[in-house]
Amino acid sequence: MKYINSKVETINFDDFEIFLKRDDLLDADFSGNKARKFYYYLVNEFPGIEKIIGHGSAQSNTLYSFSVLAKLKSWDLDFYVDHIPSFLKEDPVGNYKAALNNGAKIIPIRELAEDTNTLDYIKKSILPYEKKVLFVPEGGHCMEAEFGIKILAAEIKEWAIKHKKINLKIVLPSGTGTTALFLQKNLKDFEVLTCACVGGDEYLKKLFFELNPNENEHPLILKSSKKHHFGKLYKEFYLMYDELLKQTKIEFDLLYDPLAWLCLKEYLSNYSKDNHPSILYIHQGGLLGNETMKPRYLRKYDFKDDLS
Ligand SMILES: Cc1ncc(COP(=O)(O)O)c(C=O)c1O
Repeated sequence: MKYINSKVETINFDDFEIFLKRDDLLDADFSGNKARKFYYYLVNEFPGIEKIIGHGSAQSNTLYSFSVLAKLKSWDLDFYVDHIPSFLKEDPVGNYKAALNNGAKIIPIRELAEDTNTLDYIKKSILPYEKKVLFVPEGGHCMEAEFGIKILAAEIKEWAIKHKKINLKIVLPSGTGTTALFLQKNLKDFEVLTCACVGGDEYLKKLFFELNPNENEHPLILKSSKKHHFGKLYKEFYLMYDELLKQTKIEFDLLYDPLAWLCLKEYLSNYSKDNHPSILYIHQGGLLGNETMKPRYLRKYDFKDDLS
């Protein structure tokens, strides 16, 4: 069936053998962790629903994935953002452009109401008046996400049994932490290792608790030796992206994956190349976002595109 059952490849990074779950290849349009988190909405029937309402950034993977989901389900999409950056309005690219092409209505609330945040605005001024709508929280941070992630967990379990991987660690970066959290809950025999790309470790823990009060089922948060702010351009992030591309010939996203690979590199430095826990890294897609991130990096650091 489409949108599930991604393949696992073996790659070498810094001479460590690593297994890579290619969720980025689930489908050309509906892939990565959004395909998992929104699978519930894709395969279930919602009689009477005509529109999906979401919110987040005008450049986010969520916006694009929602626009694909809405198209597949013949729903409208209203996606609320704080504002649309002027460079994007003038010359649409990446997730924003692709979502517009899918018919998404992208609504900047800063122009409608100055003193409110997007979520409050939706709750107070939109949802009470809209009847045939489905509201999905930012980044798919909701219980419904478990439905698709449970299937991902079952695929991993089946692969691990088939390949006799007993001491398997599953590694993936976190934003809202939803994917890592539900993976750990549904993979009791293996440890899930993640890192906080948005808002730091304490914020990520808070998000874990919102979806599961049982701390024993929370993933382990790998520490980064340096504090990073989400969306900022760090030289070491681009260098990691580029190194991964050179060594594996696989492109990773520039927002989340570099931090996870930096943390993984630090984690593996405690082991030797011939004796380390088996690592399964989950490639969660998000490459359309690189269309805006990559030019920003090339401009800021004067990197040459042919580095890769
Ligand atoms: C490419 C990519 N990696 C990681 C994440 C973080 O996922 P989560 O919010 O489930 O922690 C996201 C956001 O959904 C993403 O787009």
